[in-house]
Amino acid sequence: MVTGGKGWVYGWLFHTVCALSLLAAEVTGQIRYSIPEEMSVGSIVGNIASDLGLEPKRLISGKARVFTEESSEYIGLDKENGHLIIKSKIDREELCGEISACSISFNVILDNPMELYRVTVDIQDINDNSPVFPQSKIELEISELAVPSARFVLESAIDPDVGVNTLQKYTLHPTDHFKLNIHSGGVLGKNVELILHSPLDRENKEHHNLILTSFDGGKPQRSATVQINIVVLDANDNAPVFSQSSYKASAVENVAKGTVVATVSATDADESSHNIQYYFEHLTNTVKSLFSMDQDSGELKVIGDIDYEKHKQFTINVKAKDHGGLTDSSDIIIDVIDINDNTPKINIMSFSGAVSEDAAPGTVIAMLNVQDQDSGDNSKIICSIDLNSPFKIVPSLTNHYNLVTDSELDREQIVEYNITITAVDGGNPPLSSKEILKLKISDVNDHAPQFQQESYNAFIDENNSPSTTILSVKAEDIDWGQNAKISYFLIDGDLNGSPLTSYISINSETGVIYAEKSFDYEQMKSFKIKVKAQDGGSPPLSNNVTLNIFIQDQNDNAPQILYPVQTGGSVVAEIVPRSADVGYLVTKVVAVDVDSGQNAWLSYKLQKATDRALFEVGLQNGEIRTVRQVTDKDAVKQKLTVVVEDNGQPSRSAVVTINVAVADNFPEMLSEFTDSTHDKEYNNDLTFYIILALAVVSLLFIVSIIAIISVKIYRWRQNKLFYKSGANLPVIPYYPPVYADGTLQQVYNYEMCGTTDSRMSDVKFVRPYSQNTLVSQSCLGTVQREKQEQENNDMTLEVRPYSVLCLKI
Ligand SMILES: *[C@@H]1O[C@H](CO)[C@@H](O)[C@H](O)[C@H]1NC(C)=O
Ligand SMILES: *[C@@H]1O[C@H](CO)[C@@H](O)[C@H](O)[C@H]1NC(C)=O
Repeated sequence: MVTGGKGWVYGWLFHTVCALSLLAAEVTGQIRYSIPEEMSVGSIVGNIASDLGLEPKRLISGKARVFTEESSEYIGLDKENGHLIIKSKIDREELCGEISACSISFNVILDNPMELYRVTVDIQDINDNSPVFPQSKIELEISELAVPSARFVLESAIDPDVGVNTLQKYTLHPTDHFKLNIHSGGVLGKNVELILHSPLDRENKEHHNLILTSFDGGKPQRSATVQINIVVLDANDNAPVFSQSSYKASAVENVAKGTVVATVSATDADESSHNIQYYFEHLTNTVKSLFSMDQDSGELKVIGDIDYEKHKQFTINVKAKDHGGLTDSSDIIIDVIDINDNTPKINIMSFSGAVSEDAAPGTVIAMLNVQDQDSGDNSKIICSIDLNSPFKIVPSLTNHYNLVTDSELDREQIVEYNITITAVDGGNPPLSSKEILKLKISDVNDHAPQFQQESYNAFIDENNSPSTTILSVKAEDIDWGQNAKISYFLIDGDLNGSPLTSYISINSETGVIYAEKSFDYEQMKSFKIKVKAQDGGSPPLSNNVTLNIFIQDQNDNAPQILYPVQTGGSVVAEIVPRSADVGYLVTKVVAVDVDSGQNAWLSYKLQKATDRALFEVGLQNGEIRTVRQVTDKDAVKQKLTVVVEDNGQPSRSAVVTINVAVADNFPEMLSEFTDSTHDKEYNNDLTFYIILALAVVSLLFIVSIIAIISVKIYRWRQNKLFYKSGANLPVIPYYPPVYADGTLQQVYNYEMCGTTDSRMSDVKFVRPYSQNTLVSQSCLGTVQREKQEQENNDMTLEVRPYSVLCLKI
């Protein structure tokens, strides 16, 4: 018994083997302590922290704990200070019975990183049991004829302690007729016999009372006594004798009840063996529940379940007794034969349940222990896991395995594994067991968001209302949780010198892109932006995509008339000589529309005319030509109103008024226009006369030029040049192709240089406001052609206003 109280630290640590190996962040080791049995609960076995050289903090952070394969836990761990502490009283006799080397083993497990220590505690016997005789009295009947040296077997005492603490010696008192013979052997260590050394005489003394004392070797010594009452009998017999001093038998475990395992027999020289009775001696409760002895036949039968895992061998003392009370004893030794009746057992000692997908190969996922209670090959276990899994199982200590990762994991391919661990023993047939570990692969932010398209194109009508949705972009991230939560951003930039954010905004959660302002196609036809999708990982990953935003034209601009120039109240007139032929080109209305496409397709129509039968307007090219021969009857002053319409929906239009003078000479025209002072728009307008005077000078000059033109036109017709065909093929207008659809390829603002009373010749001063002077190939072509004509005809360009326009731009 432990006499010291709690805190009595035993200095029993005699052997510490710390096999430390650094393998996959796992340290394993073994340590051995030795303690006496019966230590009180709470006593300290040893300090695992200092003995293993571990920081006390490590025990707490590593959630140090005791893992025992046995059902009951005798020793616990105080994580605070690293003490191994008795949790329940250890009775060596209960734990190990008669086996003197007694120990308990358990594991101490730490997490993060996983470590495993094997702790073995040897339990030392203390002399806590006294010897006990099975009976309080021994009755013997001995014939008075018994010869000296006759032997009488006594039931020996039992002391469950081991080593010196078990039974050591016997003493007998008095010793006048008998002495003791003690011989070792047999299951209980020592057998004791009474040997007669001086003859008995019933007539002299019929009863002898002896005291038999047994002592153990402990300190303090314990003893037991039993009284032996000997009755001296009047007659005498021979004692029975067993055929063998010990019988050997074997029994397969789990053998059927009623099976005869062994038969003993004894013979007696005096009596028939039918009168000999067989019985057990010193029967332990276990044996009593498993075997029975047929008193008459000596057959040993199985009556219970024999389990190799509990008892590997039985030694049964059997006695034979004759009528006269003489006895003999023998042992039956029964070896139990193991059969493979225990399946291997898999104990998961540590398993975290989840592993990060970036765990390096070799990371320990679980520690396990396998056991098979059978023996020999029946207990040899092979542990395996499913093939083709990215894990493997590696042995660590005896019967211990680590489940480790064997290759890279990818959560995006496999989210969870059911790892089946199979343990198969070596029996025939083998038994196996399975354990399924459900392992989750936890996510790591290893994928960037991906846009569904490589680039996006969006179309938006100009003049949109601000905050119109343009389009929505979407990116996907195959990671999980926060790592897959995507936010959208515009990548900063400038657009025409203003920050991009003043044009466009994005909803960071939905990826919907909004216009921030109203767009104008005439200022900007398209632009590019970049959108970034970023996930919520740490660190975040991102990707970007280009968006092409095209602004679509709407018919928001009316055609603009470039020629003839509309002047306030002044009169500008084109002159048509009375000799002009049919198809004479009077002038050409030149208009542009800054919209594009259909919205800039222009058509020209004569809206009003003094004489509708005299003029026509080219629907496509705006050329005003005569449709019949001018006659004398035609009024000098002709007024035409031409409407220019674009092809938009709805269409927009502009109106231009053109004055035409049908006159052969300037005075005629002048007089006609002078007459028109009656027109109320010129009435009492003094400036008119000044303007008219200037016009007269200009027109005189023009008239002479026109005469040359007429000749020139005539020649052109003869040569069937495109002047004529141009009138019949509306798609090929006369003016250069740059203007073919009335569109200006670039943004132009025109500034008209001139006063309110400018003449038509002022057109030559029209110049582009923009620096971007358009010199297209076709325009140059026109210039060259004009130059040739100039050489041929000595004609100045200024008289061909529509050509002038082209050159100036
Ligand atoms: C794992 O087993 C569970 C049932 O125990 C099942 O629901 C699950 O689908 C299995 N997972 C895999 C990856 O096989
Ligand atoms: C956009 O992505 C490309 C590659 O996809 C990368 O080279 C570039 O730096 C990114 N731009 C920004 C502004 O993040």
